[in-house]
Amino acid sequence: MSIAARRLAYGLGAAVLGVDPSRAQDAATVAAIRAAWLEHLVLVFPGMDMTVAQHVEFSRCFGELEAHPVAGLRDEDHPEMFRVTNRITNGKRSETAEAGRVWHSDGAYTLRPPTGALLHCRARPDVGGDTWFTNMYRAYDTLSDTLKGIVDKLSVVNDLGAIPATKRRDPAKLAQALQENPPVVQPMVRVHPETGRKALYLSEAVTRRIDGMKEEESRGLLQYLFAHSVRPEFTFRHTWRLHDLVLWDNRCAMHLAPPDFDPAQLREMFRTTLVGEPMGRALAR
Ligand code: SIN
Repeated sequence: MSIAARRLAYGLGAAVLGVDPSRAQDAATVAAIRAAWLEHLVLVFPGMDMTVAQHVEFSRCFGELEAHPVAGLRDEDHPEMFRVTNRITNGKRSETAEAGRVWHSDGAYTLRPPTGALLHCRARPDVGGDTWFTNMYRAYDTLSDTLKGIVDKLSVVNDLGAIPATKRRDPAKLAQALQENPPVVQPMVRVHPETGRKALYLSEAVTRRIDGMKEEESRGLLQYLFAHSVRPEFTFRHTWRLHDLVLWDNRCAMHLAPPDFDPAQLREMFRTTLVGEPMGRALAR
C-alpha cells in the first residue's frame, strides 16, 4: 500500500494522510510508514483520537517499547507510557512539567538510546506548546570536511544530571535517578543502522563535555555544534492540534519542547518510546 506523505518543512517532517493509527495496520501499511519515517524523520498523523491501548498497539508496529529509564517517571498503570504533562494532582505539579526544555535526543544519557518515539497530544494550551525538531543528518552533512574529520573521531560524555530541570526535582528522587543512570560515553557522530547515513549525535540537555577533555576545553566546540545543529533551515516546528500523533526518528533528529505557552493551561502529551540498539559505554571513573 502507498501512503500519502506531504512535506511540512524544508529541513524535515511530513504529514501522513490515509492512515488511522487507532486501527490495526497491515504489513504493507507499516512498511510504507516506515519508509516515510526513514525519509522524513518526523511524521505527523493529524488529529487521531486514540485510547492508550490503541497508542501502544500502533507503536508496537515499529518495535519493542521501553519503560522510561528514570523509574520514578514511569506511569504506574502503563509503564510503557511516558506522560509529559503540567497537570496538578493533589496540589502537586507533575514531575514532567518541564520535560524536554533543552534540545535533546531521547535517552542519550543511556547505553540503549531509543530508536524513536510516538507522542500523542491529549490536551493543548490555546496557543503555543509546540514541539521543535531538527535534522541531525543535515547538521553533519553541512560541516566542512575538516571538521567532519575531527568530530568523526570524538565521543561525548552524556549525563542525566546536566538537564537544568533536574535541579528542581525532589533531591532523593534525583539521587535515585542518577544512581540508576550514571554518565555514559557516546560517539559524537552515529551511523544510522537503517539508512547508513551519518548524523551528528549531541544533546545540549545532557552533553557535558567531549570525552578525554575538560568541560572548559570542550565548551567552544560544543557550543558551536549545538548552535549549528539547530539552524532554522534544518528544523521543523510542529504546532499541535488536539490528538495529533507524531512519530520521530531519535537516531537522526533532536527535539525541543519550548515553554512557549501559558503554564496555567493544561498541556498533556503521552509518549511511547521504541527500544534502540545497545550503544556507547559507561564512563570510566
Ligand atoms: C519530549 O522531550 O519527549 C517531550 C516533547 C514534548 O513534550 O513536546
